[in-house]
Amino acid sequence: MAETTSPAQNWRETAPGWLGEPWPANLTRADDGAMMLAGQRLDDLATEVGTPAYLVDENDFKGRARAYRDAFTQAFEAIGTKVALFYAGKANLNKTLARWAAQESFGIDTTSSGELTTALAAGVPGERIALHGNNKSREELEQAIAAGVGHIIVDSLPEIELVAEVAAAAGKSQPVLVRVTTGVHAGGHEYISTAHEDQKFGLSVNPAPGESESAAMTAVLKVLEQPSLELLGLHSHIGSQILDSAGFKAAAQALVKLAADIYRRRSVAIKELDLGGGFGIAYLPGQTSLDPRAAAYTIAGAVGDACHALGIPVPKIAFEPGRSLIGGAGITLYSVGTIKQVSVKAKDGTVFPRLYVSVDGGMSDNMRPMLYEAEYHAELANRVSDAPPVLARIVGKHCESGDILIRSIKLPGDIKRGDLIAVAATGAYGRSMASNYNMIPRPPVVAVNESGATVLVRRETVADILGLDQG
Ligand SMILES: Cc1ncc(COP(=O)(O)O)c(C=O)c1O
Repeated sequence: MAETTSPAQNWRETAPGWLGEPWPANLTRADDGAMMLAGQRLDDLATEVGTPAYLVDENDFKGRARAYRDAFTQAFEAIGTKVALFYAGKANLNKTLARWAAQESFGIDTTSSGELTTALAAGVPGERIALHGNNKSREELEQAIAAGVGHIIVDSLPEIELVAEVAAAAGKSQPVLVRVTTGVHAGGHEYISTAHEDQKFGLSVNPAPGESESAAMTAVLKVLEQPSLELLGLHSHIGSQILDSAGFKAAAQALVKLAADIYRRRSVAIKELDLGGGFGIAYLPGQTSLDPRAAAYTIAGAVGDACHALGIPVPKIAFEPGRSLIGGAGITLYSVGTIKQVSVKAKDGTVFPRLYVSVDGGMSDNMRPMLYEAEYHAELANRVSDAPPVLARIVGKHCESGDILIRSIKLPGDIKRGDLIAVAATGAYGRSMASNYNMIPRPPVVAVNESGATVLVRRETVADILGLDQG
């Protein structure tokens, strides 16, 4: 019989006994059924660091970073160019994650002074940092330019003037990329699809009705007029949680076409095309993360062919993966509190029971279900049970009836207060989007490897929150 391996096993090193996607590569179960991360029992970790807690599989994060680095480096070497990779800090950033990414040859993509300051504090050199944002403040630009940030991605015509002004005042020539929208629409949800026209990011490559010039070309020409700006390249980010490379291919072709138009009109060679992030991951059993090798070779092929067809040299290509490095490497560990059964009447009139399982966190540590109707998978983490599964809903402790982490899931019918629940694939956009709703302190970020657990970001306390209160 042919061996059946998950495609994810082809590009990630996984622990023997791995539970498979969407769990981190080193998530297994001990003989007594308790989940273990890199050999550390989750029940012991819950005692050590408390719940809720974001746990990061350190070796999985590094393995994913290496897999992306190697796949993209090789694919673009094959078309005679180099690749620059930036870890998208918005997915989840702290000094340690920034250092780990930098050790695997990633720069850091930042979107605010906070993210920029964190990357700099981690020792990432300015030239390996990118600064994004549709509304960067003058102060953020001053900070970035003073720190020698190597890539400022300009997002609008007024911003070009502002960056030029700040760079001139600092006596610097600032490398910039122009963020364009290619019309390619990809990604899991309307709010995370960022390259179609009717949204706030970027400048369209298509002329508006009645105009002969596209906003993207107007922006490029404006950058070229500014003595304090250097046109480094073009940028496109088409969306997030994308599980097929077709959108990247189309965006790459649109960027190459714009680069060729710029060369034809101004004899200026575009040095770098940044195709953003957005590589999708598995959130539910049965789903498969995008294989970086397949994506890298598809995109490299499209870039190579388009440059060849339009007669321009192949520029350096940059990417900004976030979720695909940290998302699947992280889980959230919760303790079960109140359990309540309700009767639900289906559309056809049948009545069925549903178990509401409340955990000690919720929408404040993971707002993606409420924001994007994102779906997650969870399992009992402290034991296995042969009690018949029941239909359950995992809910948080916040004062919102929509505070639902998992709308519909089968859990063992004997689940009880004090059990632990692990939710898979919460590494990205969990901690980074966390809030203090209901004045609930944000959970810690804890790295786990075979030697034990290390707190990367400590648990917030009520005193931290109250410390801001000047009343
Ligand atoms: C400009 C840009 N780059 C990169 C990313 C990272 O995307 P992902 O985490 O899906 O890889 C985002 C996400 O919103 C983004 O807006």
